[in-house]
Amino acid sequence: MESFGVSKPVSSNQTSLHKDLEVLINRYAKAVDKTPITDFTYEAFEQIKQKVAETQLPLWLDSFSGTGVSTRYFAQQNSDYCVIGVDQSSVRLRAEPQPEGENYMLVRGECEGLWRVMAQEGYYTSMHTLLYPNPWPKSQHIKRRVHGNAAFRSMLRISSRIELRTNWEIYAREFERALMLSNRPTQIRALEVDRAVTRFEEKYRASGHTLWQVTSDARDVSV
Ligand SMILES: C[S@@+](CC[C@H](N)C(=O)[O-])C[C@H]1O[C@@H](n2cnc3c(N)ncnc32)[C@H](O)[C@@H]1O
Repeated sequence: MESFGVSKPVSSNQTSLHKDLEVLINRYAKAVDKTPITDFTYEAFEQIKQKVAETQLPLWLDSFSGTGVSTRYFAQQNSDYCVIGVDQSSVRLRAEPQPEGENYMLVRGECEGLWRVMAQEGYYTSMHTLLYPNPWPKSQHIKRRVHGNAAFRSMLRISSRIELRTNWEIYAREFERALMLSNRPTQIRALEVDRAVTRFEEKYRASGHTLWQVTSDARDVSV
């Protein structure tokens, strides 16, 4: 079990949205992503397809699930979805072992590669949560952020409904801007959390951070 003490607010050499964000979004809209995809990510996709086929339920993907606290919570609250958490860290995935639920599973995979395979195969989510992805706050690491990465396009293609949470306002506003530049409806708000649904949310809330939520529902809009 990890230690979740007091956390400092995100500190960055950026004071506003990244200057290259728009250029990157436009570039990735046209570019072909050739980043290698790991074998364990292909395996994750096979596991997801199997679980969804077994349950016959729409897929709720919980990317960057960490130990899976949010995955289990969403599965319990939404028995009409098959909720699958994905994280690249086998250590995190093993940290809080729980029996697999009927509509719940954790898989090891790299989110960016998984989104791309899913997009290539025309395999879509019905709900996609991305709770507290690593912020990569250094300006030079913009391409490691979800919206600064070539996989952002694939993420959009597989996701009609998106919810991202972060404790860094600039990250939330960049994500919102990236959605807008991609012609996706979007909303941003500071989140009042009565009950933390992830370990990091628990830590950030206890540390007094403002939590940001960005949502997008594109069911009526063609991307
Ligand atoms: C800040 S933690 C948040 C975990 C969880 N969502 C929470 O709020 O407690 C970020 C998680 O993303 C995972 N991660 C980072 N990059 C990843 C990637 N490219 N693909 C899959 N998981 C990744 C890390 O292993 C880590 O568990």
